[in-house]
Amino acid sequence: MSLQDFAGQTIIVTGAGSGIGRVTALRLAERGAHVIVADISDSAEDVVKEITDAGGQASAAVGDISDQQVVDDVVAQAVDTGGRLGLVNNAGIMDKFDGAAETEDAVWERCLRINLTAPFLLTRAVLPHMRKAGVGAIVNTGSAASLRGAAAGAAYTASKHGLAGLTRNTAYTYSRENIRCNLVAPGGVDTNIMTTSAAVNEGDIDPSHGLAAITPVHESALRTAEPEEIAAIIVFLLSDTASDVNGVLLPVDGGWVAG
Ligand SMILES: NC(=O)c1ccc[n+]([C@@H]2O[C@H](COP(=O)([O-])OP(=O)(O)OC[C@H]3O[C@@H](n4cnc5c(N)ncnc54)[C@H](O)[C@@H]3O)[C@@H](O)[C@H]2O)c1
Repeated sequence: MSLQDFAGQTIIVTGAGSGIGRVTALRLAERGAHVIVADISDSAEDVVKEITDAGGQASAAVGDISDQQVVDDVVAQAVDTGGRLGLVNNAGIMDKFDGAAETEDAVWERCLRINLTAPFLLTRAVLPHMRKAGVGAIVNTGSAASLRGAAAGAAYTASKHGLAGLTRNTAYTYSRENIRCNLVAPGGVDTNIMTTSAAVNEGDIDPSHGLAAITPVHESALRTAEPEEIAAIIVFLLSDTASDVNGVLLPVDGGWVAG
């Protein structure tokens, strides 16, 4: 059996209705996982259809993943599905690329709630099941803004740095229980985060900012990645191929944070 075979596993992927999460869900299902496609948008249903039409297994969970009740329901759905549990904390929103002086309370709170508190709530909810099973893997979608100060605004940067801390603490705390937790840190990726997804979250970003607003990407001639390139690394970190990789913050950015 391949170490990247997910047969017998149920993997929750948040933000799987679009972008990086959608492709991650498709690739995990191709490798035999039952994917819980969790998203605040109905697009989760479309991704489930894409997976099942291709012969894979998936079910949708539509709701705001920063809500404790939704988290409890999603984890119960995954546990009822059965098998070894995995988690990809991927749902996220942008801020308005403002520094602290210009950041509104609402933007700060929504960004922290969705990008950091939601992964915490889900991590807390899945851990008892993983500990009982004696195995588990979690991958968090961070950002270059997990590692640098110049990749986004204050709220997004703080949320993604916080996610790096949650990743390392979870990795260290449960390492002796065969539970791993890692973070991918993408640079610019061609997804809907600046456009349609922002609208779902009541305009967290002015779409006119566009990807080019992320100055370092714009200035350095680094290309924008495809969601596929990030999903491949998420799948790798979640898989048994990465059985001794724990607590890593892995840039997948074409060299942006190296500069
Ligand atoms: N696109 C980039 O350039 C880039 C760069 C670095 C990191 N990231 C990170 O990648 C992750 C995925 O984003 P993407 O670029 O694929 O964007 P995307 O907007 O295409 O997908 C994000 C999905 O998350 C969902 N979502 C948002 N809030 C939610 C909530 N409260 N509950 C449930 N679902 C919710 C959206 O509906 C959307 O389907 C995010 O965490 C983002 O911060 C993206």
